[in-house]
Amino acid sequence: MGWYDTHARDLPWRVGPTARKNGALPDPYGVWLSEVMLQQTTVAAVRDYFLRFTTLWPTVGDLAAAEDAAVMGEWAGLGYYARARNLLKCARVVAGEFGGRFPDTEDGLRDLPGIGPYTAAAIASIAFDRPAVVMDGNVERVMARLFAVQTPLPAAKPELKTLAARLTPADRPGCHAQAVMDLGATICTPRNPACGICPVMTACAARKAGIAADLPTKAPK
Ligand code: ADE
Repeated sequence: MGWYDTHARDLPWRVGPTARKNGALPDPYGVWLSEVMLQQTTVAAVRDYFLRFTTLWPTVGDLAAAEDAAVMGEWAGLGYYARARNLLKCARVVAGEFGGRFPDTEDGLRDLPGIGPYTAAAIASIAFDRPAVVMDGNVERVMARLFAVQTPLPAAKPELKTLAARLTPADRPGCHAQAVMDLGATICTPRNPACGICPVMTACAARKAGIAADLPTKAPK
């Protein structure tokens, strides 16, 4: 968390650690929109799309009222058009049935169109500071290395989730989740991890064993 406080990536859908410590939370609409865009698309590519969408449609109500063709047109280039269709469906449910407010629990979010376990946990954690366990490829890799989990993926998933749950703090869980994501994206990278500058290097079992770059292992196809 100390590392995140000084090294958090400055992303347009984020509220930084200092503001969060003072009680500020991001707009759930922006968190949802960014998480849907970030599925199968890089942070670098999403940035401009996110800014364009939130300029054209500043609230979920604005997006819900948009013409389908306008939204699909702006989505062009992001790929996976089913995501855009679900995006609109979800916006219309939130605007029409929830008065424009996203549910603030993982279970409530899971009931919305296009929101799966990952996205529900990410929104609950990042937008509402709930201690949800946010699992993606980055988080799995960080956990596999930190605890030197040698079980291959995907069999290791439940074990990695248990470990991640144990690490999730009651205080500022949203910052913790994003800290692990940023660590995985910038230091604990798939290849050539920068263990020498890692804030948790002394706690990392894989580094101690000299096998950080070899984890996680994958079951042969
Ligand atoms: N990838 C997916 N969601 C992210 C987030 N909130 N921060 C950084 N990377 C992410």
